[in-house]
Amino acid sequence: MEEKIMFDNPNIGILGLGHVGLPTALGLADIGWNVIGADDLKSKAQDIANGDAPFYEPGLSEMLIKNINSGRFSVASSVEEAIDASDVIFVCVGTPQNDDGSADLSQIENAGRTIAQNSNTNKLVVEKSTTPVSTSLRIKDTLRRYAKENVEFEVAVNPEFLREGTGLYDFFNPDRIVLGVESEAAKNTLLQIYLPLLDQTNPSDISDKEIYEAKSNDKFVITDVNTAELIKHASNSFLATKISFINLVADICEKSGSDVSKVAKGMGLDPRIGSSFLQAGLGFGGYCLPKDIKAFTKIGEDLGVDMSFFREVDNVNIRRVDQIIDKLKGKLWVLRDKTIAVWGIAFKPGTDDIRESPAMALIEKLIEEEVKLNLHDPKAMEEFKRTSLSEYSNIEYFTDPIDSSNNVDAIIIATDWPEFKSVDYKNIKDAMQYPFVLDARNLLNPVEMLDMGFDYIGVGRYS
Ligand code: UDX
Repeated sequence: MEEKIMFDNPNIGILGLGHVGLPTALGLADIGWNVIGADDLKSKAQDIANGDAPFYEPGLSEMLIKNINSGRFSVASSVEEAIDASDVIFVCVGTPQNDDGSADLSQIENAGRTIAQNSNTNKLVVEKSTTPVSTSLRIKDTLRRYAKENVEFEVAVNPEFLREGTGLYDFFNPDRIVLGVESEAAKNTLLQIYLPLLDQTNPSDISDKEIYEAKSNDKFVITDVNTAELIKHASNSFLATKISFINLVADICEKSGSDVSKVAKGMGLDPRIGSSFLQAGLGFGGYCLPKDIKAFTKIGEDLGVDMSFFREVDNVNIRRVDQIIDKLKGKLWVLRDKTIAVWGIAFKPGTDDIRESPAMALIEKLIEEEVKLNLHDPKAMEEFKRTSLSEYSNIEYFTDPIDSSNNVDAIIIATDWPEFKSVDYKNIKDAMQYPFVLDARNLLNPVEMLDMGFDYIGVGRYS
């Protein structure tokens, strides 16, 4: 008979302290577990150990200091040390994109091998990074191949659904907790770990009975490991599909003089459709959606499934930036030597992350057109300055959006930061060379902008 539970009161290790690993580590520490994190990037690990969050995420710095001070979260001086100190190891390393769109799983393989080679006791290895279906089975093979004698491993899949900008909120308020497992023992160990999140129990007070009852809690979706991996890829691909869908509807709205925000509202009130992720604009970006839809397409094709539907979802998204450039040209004709203010560099508000940001793709195209750029973003300017695009000679940076509008021929809103709504547009209009606002995120009220005398264009609302 299988063990009822693999580990009672496990020590938890987190490999990879990025946008997924760090909020997860701090969340688990905050609900009462002893958590040790590790990252291959020594300088990053050192900064975190000193209480410096390596990226912006609301509440993250405070949560880091709180859990270092409570003694429940620590950073290992090496990955090996974290492995040795843990019973359950969450793998949160990156799964970047290969040139053919597939997921580069070398960091995952490396984590599996390092765990196997450095484990002297049995471990439950939990894959949290987003990976194509069947990856955890490859991790299991790797663990077995490199395992020391008498050390046993189990694998599980527990995909992370947290969004950047609300990462900690999402950790503490999950819609669902997906547990892909291969045994009762692994399942019960993971139920035990997540129980304090749902019922605020102290980890040391959890009884076996509570663990067995937890599986009937609606939040838990308990599956085999492959299904759990597919839930994550399918979820992100569905979100991407919703966005490309509404963006295509926006194009039809423009050609027919209709209003996409009203279409989205009318559609979204149907609970079968839902109102979220129907915001038309510059398209989806970030480290997850663009990469996941490509990796999902590739794994489907490798398995012999016709994935042209998902390929088109991605193509629709890639075309969004060109459409905004066309609109700008439609108004200003020649772009060369025009001064354009771009507000927003981050891939979405609430983060300084610019990875796969549609705003970055837009800036790159504007640079190709040899415009003079005035850039403003509330959080992401420093990240931008680290990229090669910042080598372009004709860029000025502004901490205040009003200053950035001095003498410009157009303002493009590329990220829907809520603070852009409350800017003093009257002042801005007077400062601009020509009062053209191209709202690539449909953030502002068109009627108000036109009333103020702006030449204003949104997406799928006014042509
Ligand atoms: C996403 C998933 O939402 C999350 O569950 C998963 O764990 C990681 O990937 P994230 O990358 O943080 O989260 O961003 P998300 O909030 O999903 O937004 C992705 C992109 O879509 C952003 O560029 C955003 O601006 C864009 N978007 C979103 C739209 O263009 N329209 C919308 O209606 C919603």
